[in-house]
Amino acid sequence: MFNLERFDIKLSTEVIGRNFVYTEEIDSTNSFLLDKSNKYSIDGTVLLAEKQNKGKGRKDRVWYSTREQNLTFSILLTNKKYLGKNLNIINFATSLAVAISIENIYQLKTELKWPNDVLVNGKKIAGILLESTSQGNKIERLVIGIGINVNQTLFQGNYNISPTSIKHELKEQIDRERLLAEFLNNFEEILNKIETEPGEILKDWKLRCRLIGEKISITEGENIKYGIFDDLDNEGFLLLKNKDKIEKIHFGDVSIA
Ligand code: BTN
Repeated sequence: MFNLERFDIKLSTEVIGRNFVYTEEIDSTNSFLLDKSNKYSIDGTVLLAEKQNKGKGRKDRVWYSTREQNLTFSILLTNKKYLGKNLNIINFATSLAVAISIENIYQLKTELKWPNDVLVNGKKIAGILLESTSQGNKIERLVIGIGINVNQTLFQGNYNISPTSIKHELKEQIDRERLLAEFLNNFEEILNKIETEPGEILKDWKLRCRLIGEKISITEGENIKYGIFDDLDNEGFLLLKNKDKIEKIHFGDVSIA
């Protein structure tokens, strides 16, 4: 069972997670917070579920997570100061905060994989799914869903990148309350830079991205593109170099070619 008191003592944010909702079971924390017929609209609301019955991954994949072992949660952003911002940068702020939190507490070296996976020893330890609802051309609600593999050690099923967890890497039971508070503290600090220094977020993200400069393939549905991962542009799109041509890539799964 998640210990709310232990979590609360370690939380030092102003907004993110101050409205904290805990549930034993739900279809998907993302779907729930996205639906505006639910009663939550406070900016920074965090919904944590011990079990998701329809946990969603990117590209209509399923996110599997064993009950009470991991962290599966979503953050609702409704403040206009974030909603008009480039969503790629919010994605990067999130994966960067996950990576920094894991490094700070457990001294595990993390790597970031475009667009938003967090890896340890080449295996996936966390994934992020951003979803939004719009009214006209304005985003109304932005939901950031985060799944961190914490204490699960057995993973069954087919994964496009092999999964791991913090416990699997360290061979010790991990304090989920401490990790969630550390993440939310770091996330708020990084998110606050979005208005003033978005370039810093991109720079810190790139420092942890091991594939820049490598030969890669990018798969988007049936379509595969090859080239060198040249850089990210200022908006966070991947620049793929092929001979002398540079192509801007918006979506896709990146692998070493
Ligand atoms: C991915 O790497 O494919 C993204 C995984 C995102 C999973 C999280 S778990 C909490 C939130 N609710 C969901 O249904 N999905 C996200």
